[in-house]
Order: sequence, then C-alpha cells, then structure tokens
Amino acid sequence: MLKCVIFDLDGVLVSTDELHYRAWKAIAAKLGVPFDRSDNMRQRGVSRMESLEVVLEKSSHTFTEQEKQALAQEKNERYRSMLSGLGPDAVLEGVCDTLAMLERRGIVLAVGSSSRNAPEILERTKLADRMDVVVSGLDITHSKPHPEVFCKAGQRAGVLPRECLVVEDAATGVQAGKAAGMKVLAVGAAKDNAQADFRFADLSEAQSSWNGIFAAFEDSCPEPGAG
Ligand code: G6P
Ligand code: MG
Repeated sequence: MLKCVIFDLDGVLVSTDELHYRAWKAIAAKLGVPFDRSDNMRQRGVSRMESLEVVLEKSSHTFTEQEKQALAQEKNERYRSMLSGLGPDAVLEGVCDTLAMLERRGIVLAVGSSSRNAPEILERTKLADRMDVVVSGLDITHSKPHPEVFCKAGQRAGVLPRECLVVEDAATGVQAGKAAGMKVLAVGAAKDNAQADFRFADLSEAQSSWNGIFAAFEDSCPEPGAG
C-alpha cells in the first residue's frame, strides 16, 4: 500500500534546477571551460563537490583542494544570490494540486534532496509547512545514487521502503530510489528513464494517472498475512 511520497526538490517541486545550471555556467565561463545542458544533466542529484568535478573535468589545470573549495563556495554564493528572489511562483506545474490530492488521501509527504539549501528553498516557496519529513544534503553522508537520503526519509516517516514512492528528475535519483527498494516516478529531465516505474513530463501530466499508481502498490506489495 502506498503510504509515503518522497519528492526530490530541484527540478521536481521547484524550478531551482535552472538556477543551479546558471550558477555553474558562470563558474565554467570564469575557468574558460565549455559547459552545457548535457553536463548539467550529470550534476542533477549529486552533491555540490561532485557537481564541481563535472565542470573541472574539462579543464587541463589540476586544482588543489583549496581551489576546489573556493570554487564550490563561489558557485554557492552565486546560486544563493539568485535564491533571494525565489518565492511560491517557482513551484513547478502540477505540484500544488498533487500535494493537495495526496494530503486528502492521507499520504505522508516527504522531501529527499542532496541540496544543503533545501530547507531554505522550502521556506521561501511556502512548501515547508506542507511537508511531514525533510531530509536534505545537511542530513546525509552520501549523495544520490546512494539510497541514504530516501532510506532516511522513509525511516523518519515510519514506513517501509515498499510503501514509498520517490519522485525524481535525475538519473542518479531514480537509481537511488530503486536501490532503496522503492517505486520511482520520473519527471522532467528523467521522463524517459527506463529504470523508473512511472514516467511523465511533469506532475501536471501525472495528475490523471494517480489511481493507477496507487493500484500498482496494491498489486505488487501484498500486506503480510493478506489474502
Ligand atoms: C541537488 C541538485 C544538484 C546539486 C545538489 C547540491 O541534488 O540536483 O545539482 O549539486 O542538490 O546542492 P547545494 O544546494 O547543496 O549546492
Ligand atoms: Mg532534482
């Protein structure tokens, strides 16, 4: 039975994935290395330092740990200056209706994000109060595709992995959800991901399919002793 939906944040609930892209693009330009949307695809779901490596791998220069820390800090400052203008209008299409529908059905709502900025973004976009559980980059040691973030969210929600649905826009996130033993609904940049159980362009397109999604949890996850 479906009991908990764990949402990724950037690119699933909020359009901040675009702001990450712009901030990294500026860092790449400063370093004189090429950087495009396909590079950014590989940054989705992974930590700030791992995202930096995607930029640095195109440079012939070898960076010291100190230089890397300074670049990651500069990216975060650029990103955070863009966050200062963030409000509820950054919430993506279909999100509010989906949250309302899940609330009506008594589903536990959770966020599982690798971002250390997640709590602030949830506050700014007025999504914080709607979430029962938030696990962010501040709470984890391993970023996606490691399942830690989703396992922790499920544990805090007091549910079993097979009772959880992960909603993701990153290939690493889809992998993490499956590794956690959960079903995965892929949207946005991951909408064609073959590993996902359900695929939609966005949550608005998924809207009419939730009865089927709930039913899939009834079919494949019989309760112990049921039947
Ligand atoms: C999310 C984004 C990644 C980003 C990571 C860390 O998972 O998809 O692209 O690198 O968060 O974000 P942070 O806000 O902590 O730099
Ligand atoms: Mg994402």
